[in-house]
Amino acid sequence: MYFRFLNLTLKMTRILTGIQSSGTPHLGNVLGAMLPAIELSKKNESLLFIADLHALTTIKNKEQLLKNSLETAAAWIACGLDTKKNILYRQSDIPQVTELMWYLNCITPYPMLANAHSFKDKSEKLSDVNAGLFTYPVLMAADIILYNANIVPVGKDQIQHLEITRDIANKFNNIYGETFTVPEAKLKKESMIIPGTDGQKMSKSYGNTIDVFEDEKRLKKQIMSIKTDSKGLEEPKNPDECNVFQIYKLIGSKVQVEDLKLKYLKGGYGYGHAKKELFNLILENFKEPRNNYKRLINEPDVVNHELTNGAKKASEIAKNVLRKVKSNLGLM
Ligand code: TRP
Repeated sequence: MYFRFLNLTLKMTRILTGIQSSGTPHLGNVLGAMLPAIELSKKNESLLFIADLHALTTIKNKEQLLKNSLETAAAWIACGLDTKKNILYRQSDIPQVTELMWYLNCITPYPMLANAHSFKDKSEKLSDVNAGLFTYPVLMAADIILYNANIVPVGKDQIQHLEITRDIANKFNNIYGETFTVPEAKLKKESMIIPGTDGQKMSKSYGNTIDVFEDEKRLKKQIMSIKTDSKGLEEPKNPDECNVFQIYKLIGSKVQVEDLKLKYLKGGYGYGHAKKELFNLILENFKEPRNNYKRLINEPDVVNHELTNGAKKASEIAKNVLRKVKSNLGLM
């Protein structure tokens, strides 16, 4: 990954993002994860993949898995990810990743996995505690180092997985000689916690999402259901204490936000009005992604074609790295 050019050695930054495929992304996913990643992908080569192998640890339904992958990929393309410049693929389309996982399994200390927070959390909560949940971080390490990624943007909950990845990569390099790039985590900003309709963090598991890709009727219903206090129409209202305003603030322009703030403070302006304004703003700002998504979801072949193209590009990198790995291991 080094370009020699007129005695200059430029290191290329390769960003990699694993996308959980738990169905159609909601406003929180779009604002908190997708749009920032798409912004980053304009400046640096990015690999983005749908983590359908990881999804198998919890999803045991064929239709659900296929549908989730399709919807997730459609949403990323709909939001403007340039699939010519970047690589969007399905994790399971690159079998080298599971092969590498085995090699990594053989140098991963058992206690490191047994002590992982996410495994402890999941094994306490879920009734199906399978071995896939246990080795989840090893597959994640394989996801990253198979492509010699340098930077991995993650939320706080994934930092430990990145530490495990770095440990595994370093250990392999120490035993077998320099093979892998040791990646760095890039912590995503906490300010990007998007409140849901009940004011808690927006999350599918809390049932408080705003589904930007839904049809207008359902979208409107969700927005009208945002919790507010019971102040009457005439009373002045505090925008900082209102969920509707908190969401509006993340999407509106400076002028729009100031405008709404004044209406709150002045009184004679009800929460119903504010919700309608938020609804219209979402329709306006997400007009193109919504139209794109609707078109793509009805043309799965187009989406699958994009994913197949992405897999071809990812596969080239993966094959080269794996060849070196096997040779260093003494397998060829
Ligand atoms: N475990 C990540 C999550 O829950 C998803 C993921 C899988 C991932 N493989 C990855 C993220 C590799 C970054 C790099 O969000």
